[in-house]
Amino acid sequence: MEILKGINIVKTYNNEINDSSQNIINGLDITIHEGEFTAIMGPSGSGKTTLLNILSGIDKPTIGEVNIMGMDMVALNDSERAIFRRKNLGLIFQNFNLLEDLTLKENAALPLLMQGEKQAKIEQAVNELFKLMNIYEIKDKYPNMVSQGQRQRAASCRALATNPRIIFADEPTGNLDSKAAKKFMNYMRIINSEKKVTLLLATHDSMAASYCSRVIFIKDGNIFADIYKKEEDKKFLNKILDCLVIMGGDD
Ligand SMILES: Nc1ncnc2c1ncn2[C@@H]1O[C@H](COP(=O)(O)OP(=O)(O)OP(=O)(O)O)[C@@H](O)[C@H]1O
Ligand SMILES: [Mg+2]
Repeated sequence: MEILKGINIVKTYNNEINDSSQNIINGLDITIHEGEFTAIMGPSGSGKTTLLNILSGIDKPTIGEVNIMGMDMVALNDSERAIFRRKNLGLIFQNFNLLEDLTLKENAALPLLMQGEKQAKIEQAVNELFKLMNIYEIKDKYPNMVSQGQRQRAASCRALATNPRIIFADEPTGNLDSKAAKKFMNYMRIINSEKKVTLLLATHDSMAASYCSRVIFIKDGNIFADIYKKEEDKKFLNKILDCLVIMGGDD
C-alpha cells in the first residue's frame, strides 16, 4: 500500500546574489510503500534535506503534489501541516535536538505529555521503547551524561513515542562514529521490522544506507537510480558504492 507519494515535485530557490533562480528539485516523482525502509543518497547540496522536508510536510514544494497517508499536504496551511506532522509522523535529526535539562526518559515522554496522555500510558510506552532501543538502564540520565549513540537512540524513542506510521530522519548517523552508527541502524531495522514503521532517511553514509531495503539516489534535481536490496548487507553496500561512483559528485 502506498503511504507516501510525491508527484512532479519542483523546489525553486532564488539566488539573491546574482538574481537568478534554480530548481533544486526538478519534477521528481516518488512513491513509498508502507513498511519500506528507504535511504535517499546524493552529493552534498543535491537536495536530500530539501526533499525530505517536502515529503514530511515541513516545507512546501514550489510546484507538485505531496500525499502522506492519503492527506494532500499542499492543501494544508502551515499550522495544519504542523498538527498533521505531530500526530502522524516522527522526525529524527542529525543533532538529536534533546533538551539538556530533561532526562532521556523525560525527553522521550514530551510529545505524549503535550498530547495530554495519561501518566500510566506514557510510562508504559516510553519504557517499552527504551527497552527496545537498549537504553532502559540509562533512562534517568541527562543527555550530557551519555554517549552520542545513546542520545540518538533516545531521540528516536521520542520520535517513536506517538506511534507514528512514518519516521523521517535527516543524517541520523551524521554525528556518530562508525560503530555507533552501525548499532543505530540495527535498531532502525528492528523498528522497521517489529513495529512496522515506514522509514525514510537522508544520508551521506553508504554503510548506513546498506541497512535499508531500498536506496534512492538523487542528482541534478531528480532521481538518478532507485535500487532494492535483494542480497546481504555487504553485497548491497558494494552496489551502493558502485552507484555513487557512476553518479559522481563529492560523495
Ligand atoms: N532556504 C534556502 N534558500 C536558498 N537555497 C537553499 C535553501 N535551502 C537549501 N538551499 C540550497 O539548495 C541546495 C540543496 O540543499 P540541501 O540542504 O537540500 O542539500 P543536501 O543534499 O541535504 O546537502 P548535504 O548533504 O550537505 O546535507 C543547496 O545548493 C542549498 O544551498
Ligand atoms: Mg542535508
